Amino acid sequence: MADVPKGMEHVDRKELYTSLPVRIRYLQQFLEFGADDVVALIDGQKYIKAIIPAIVNMVYKKLLKHDITARVFSTRDSRNEENPDRWIKEDDAQIRHRKMFLRWYLTKLNSDPSKMEYWQYLDKVGLMHVGQGRRNPLHVDYIFLGACLGYIQDAMTEAILSHPRLDLTQKIAIVRAIGKVIWIQNDLMAKWHVDDGKEFADAVDDEEIQAEAREPEGYMHGRRVLGSGSEDSGLVDASSMTSEKSTTSLGRSIEQISLSNEQSKCPFSGMGGGDLDKQRAATWRPRRQEPEAKPPPTGIPRLYVVDGKTVCKEKLEPNPFE
Ligand code: HEM
Repeated sequence: MADVPKGMEHVDRKELYTSLPVRIRYLQQFLEFGADDVVALIDGQKYIKAIIPAIVNMVYKKLLKHDITARVFSTRDSRNEENPDRWIKEDDAQIRHRKMFLRWYLTKLNSDPSKMEYWQYLDKVGLMHVGQGRRNPLHVDYIFLGACLGYIQDAMTEAILSHPRLDLTQKIAIVRAIGKVIWIQNDLMAKWHVDDGKEFADAVDDEEIQAEAREPEGYMHGRRVLGSGSEDSGLVDASSMTSEKSTTSLGRSIEQISLSNEQSKCPFSGMGGGDLDKQRAATWRPRRQEPEAKPPPTGIPRLYVVDGKTVCKEKLEPNPFE
């Protein structure tokens, strides 16, 4: 059997399925999630924060539009097709509570992703939707999770692209960074639903999953990670994680993985952020002028920021770009 050629990186399958840092590292490398994405998320935070409440309202309107997802808020299991005695409504206390958590979650999603704790929480969100990591189990089939993430990504992309003052390079950087983070969250949801790598299940730490089930909502490893601004700061480094197993199945320490993460964080590290922005801007070309007879564009945003406030589609002029 020939060795892996020079320049080709080896990925160990067992490590991929048993070590979260290894999985995250692979996904980040493949998606080229790097230092410029981290900067884009941190810099873009203030714009994204402004649209989060409106996105959360849109998501819950969606989830309560179909019986199959609305039921979950009564049954806690999307496989149960029995109708509840009373259908939950958007202004019920439980939905208001859930909205608060989704707001906190989306704020965290758009915060500094450079620490391992950030990805551990995203993994925990995946875990808690498959009947694990919760005292009172919750099961949501993958189709609803994937659709929901897609809807959130679409709403965020539209809102960022429609921002009246952000320049194009910053819009591109934020949209790309959010897209990559959402796709990693998607993997961290899907992985709990698929059987890939199940042969390594023995090497997964059940103890840790049980410990997570005992924690209150928004907590991880005994620390509050959602709400009260904690989603923006106070993150711990992978190397200081005590609850994560000290070595992977290949015997690599978390420190070693963090180090290789550091070394490979930015695939464009030699190029400098500014130059990269210029390069990306250079790849963008304005559309050719359309003939006058064309109807107005249909892509009128559902969300639009006017004087620092988020406005919804119904309240906008037919074409806010004119
Ligand atoms: C984009 C996909 C989704 C994300 C990011 C998400 C995120 C979250 C978060 C952050 C929490 C609580 C956090 C914590 O305990 O720390 C949660 C709980 C919950 N989610 Fe989701 N969710 C998603 C999709 C869904 C869907 C599609 C449903 C139902 C159809 C759903 C139903 C619930 C319920 C009922 C809880 C409460 C769990 C409990 O009380 O223990 N989620 N979700």
